[in-house]
Amino acid sequence: MKDLMAIILAAGQGTRMYSGLPKVLHNVAGQPMLDHVLEAIEALEPSKIFVVTGFMGDVVRDHVGKRAICVTQEKRLGTAHAVKQVVPYLENFDGEVLITVGDAPLIRTETLRELIKRRRAHQVAATVATTELEDPTGYGRIVRNRDATVRKIVEEKDTNIYEAAIQEINTGIYVFDNKQLLAALRLVRNKNAQKEYYLTDTVEILGRLGGEVEPVMGEDSTETMGVNSRAELARAEAYLRHRIALSVMEAGVTVIDPDTTYIDKQVRIGRDTVIHPFSVLKGRCEIGEGGDIGPHAHITDSVIGPRSHTRFCCIDNAQLGADVTVGPYSSIRPGCTIGDNVRVGTFVEVTRSEIGDNSDILHLSYIGDAHIGERCSIGTGSLTVNFDGKRKRETTLGDDVFLGSKTSLVAPVTVDADMRFPHNAVLTGDVKNDAPKSAKKAPVKAKARPKKKK
Ligand code: UD1
Ligand code: CA
Repeated sequence: MKDLMAIILAAGQGTRMYSGLPKVLHNVAGQPMLDHVLEAIEALEPSKIFVVTGFMGDVVRDHVGKRAICVTQEKRLGTAHAVKQVVPYLENFDGEVLITVGDAPLIRTETLRELIKRRRAHQVAATVATTELEDPTGYGRIVRNRDATVRKIVEEKDTNIYEAAIQEINTGIYVFDNKQLLAALRLVRNKNAQKEYYLTDTVEILGRLGGEVEPVMGEDSTETMGVNSRAELARAEAYLRHRIALSVMEAGVTVIDPDTTYIDKQVRIGRDTVIHPFSVLKGRCEIGEGGDIGPHAHITDSVIGPRSHTRFCCIDNAQLGADVTVGPYSSIRPGCTIGDNVRVGTFVEVTRSEIGDNSDILHLSYIGDAHIGERCSIGTGSLTVNFDGKRKRETTLGDDVFLGSKTSLVAPVTVDADMRFPHNAVLTGDVKNDAPKSAKKAPVKAKARPKKKK
């Protein structure tokens, strides 16, 4: 948006979080609160975004990177003082300024857009997002003029009993005409209960200067909630979780029980996939179409191909092909690439390995640092002995290898293609398939399985 700049106030410590982490870096639905706010603002394409940092400013700055200009507020003297740190960048700017707090992570772009639209349409000095709360404790109260514009905002600690009873509160999200904001900021004083320079005082000042402030009341008071404690963090999480589940469903995914399903914001899911209860999809996941995820699938930063079925399992930093089944009770650990039509069954752990298309590892196995070819069958209880106490060593199986039950692959070991072993074999070094071609058994193929129809 042309003629728009945005400021996010994020210098506070968040005392009531009792944390070593700056408040705005606490996660909600898999990403820091600040990132949610940044995303909502970035969608407006303002010409510049500023983040005011203070407590652990270097950590916040590193996190923000190139997404915004970080401006330091050395002493936390209040929200107006925080905005003043950005004034040098605003001096010659002829436009409007969106100001939000970094601890209101649920704010949607549409709500910000509405504030801008209304300010432009009515040519007021500022618009402020308000909402009505059953219990307004802790928030600044909105005192209106007869014509319904905002006369002033009174902070909780400065209220009289009449003001304290007002249920319309300040969400801390505003759009100002820049010139009028700068004029008002110059007049803010700190004569109040907290001896702070309140940004909220600019409202009354603008009135004195002949400007009007229009309230934009949101129906959904949770969207603008501030997170000041861990309990509020959990409330924000639950709310956002439902919002994400809803958007996933709108895109053609079945979520059987949104109350017990946890999907992070960056997760992408294909149509007609069913997410069963108690599933947790974290970080950057891409789930294909027509699959069944869960019940009880815990998937982090992974790609799962179409029509795959993963239940009662953990999958972390892995790539799975199409028509794969995993579980119950199995773990795919980081660094795995699993081909199409692979079956990983019950009590199987796979780590740092590649499994070729159409291979089976169905019962009680550990496969680590291995390259398994296509159409291999790993018998019950087989495992890689990949660690000698000092080094991890690799296992390589050619295509069409059949391992009987309880095979030990003592790494380093390389097994030629088309070989078949009875149960209890211990294989190590180079295992060559040097039988004459005519004497070779026909390769054991994993039985072709009918493709799942959806
Ligand atoms: C503020 C508003 C209040 C509103 C509420 C909405 C003021 C004076 N009060 O109160 O009317 O109802 O938000 O959530 O503005 N910050 C700085 N520097 C400072 C002080 C604060 O950057 O010197 C930042 C904080 O990091 C936080 C935001 O400003 O992100 C709001 O500060 P906070 O102390 O949480 O204000 P509230 O008391 O919640
Ligand atoms: Ca707050």
